[in-house]
Amino acid sequence: MPVVISLLNSFTGVAAACGGFLYHNNVMLMGGVLVGSAGTILTIVMCKAMNRSLTNVLIGAVGGNSAVTSSSSKSGGTVREVQATDVAILMKYAQKVIVVPGYGLAVAQAQHVVHELEGLLESEGVEVKYAIHPVAGRMPGHMNVLLAESNVSYDKLLEMEHINPEFATTDVVLVVGANDVVNPAAKTDPASPIYGMPILDVENAKQIVVLKRSMKSGYAGIENELFYNSKCGMLFGDAKASLQKLVNEVKTL
Ligand code: TAP
Repeated sequence: MPVVISLLNSFTGVAAACGGFLYHNNVMLMGGVLVGSAGTILTIVMCKAMNRSLTNVLIGAVGGNSAVTSSSSKSGGTVREVQATDVAILMKYAQKVIVVPGYGLAVAQAQHVVHELEGLLESEGVEVKYAIHPVAGRMPGHMNVLLAESNVSYDKLLEMEHINPEFATTDVVLVVGANDVVNPAAKTDPASPIYGMPILDVENAKQIVVLKRSMKSGYAGIENELFYNSKCGMLFGDAKASLQKLVNEVKTL
């Protein structure tokens, strides 16, 4: 939908530019050219970040069954459920924690509580950063806007190409309501609808904790092998409630 809106926006610009040309109005012409080109560039950038052609976005279906709920993977791995107390201990005694926000963070409106957790961990001497994927959420800059709203310092938000090399030296990655943007199938499964999409290399970290409500898939409607990785623990529940539990646990440790 954001791609379609951006495309329609670019058409508005082209229409205004044509109007400016017909009525010999240079201001209208220039305004139309600017809006048209900005909309076109944004449309292309979003399609590229999703590794899908514009035609595929406009008329193609995404993924398969969006209600994948299995607790064992195609490769036979099983899901390890973790409790807030264990995750709090992991994070409090870590040197470096990276938070990966996704669409679920926006749904849960958990941006303020994640910032509170970040402050608590930093007061314990833990280095905290955020990994921002270009198409995390449902619109360009979705995560940046949410985190800015809760006053997360801008220099803590790192774009994918800058944060990816850092996962190997990270003790804990906290994936908050993200799914497709951390799905290794994008690198390993040529049959996957997201194959070729650049993703966050969270599996390189020492421990991964995923906060989501169930084993359901994300936007692309596909299973995520990351959840069956032996380094990965699942903290089930609404992201805001789970983060609040983590805050409470870290305070009591
Ligand atoms: P998704 O892959 O959509 O995954 C979001 C996950 O959040 C879901 O698996 C869901 O699992 C969980 N969730 C939902 N509500 C939650 C809540 N209240 N508490 C905790 N978890 C919750 O998100 P993503 O990783 O951010 O990826 C974005 C996707 O959208 C990509 O496929 C991208 O291509 C697509 N897209 C993005 C854009 C832009 S421009 N950002 C535009 C169009 C499409 P549960 O249901 O189990 O909780």
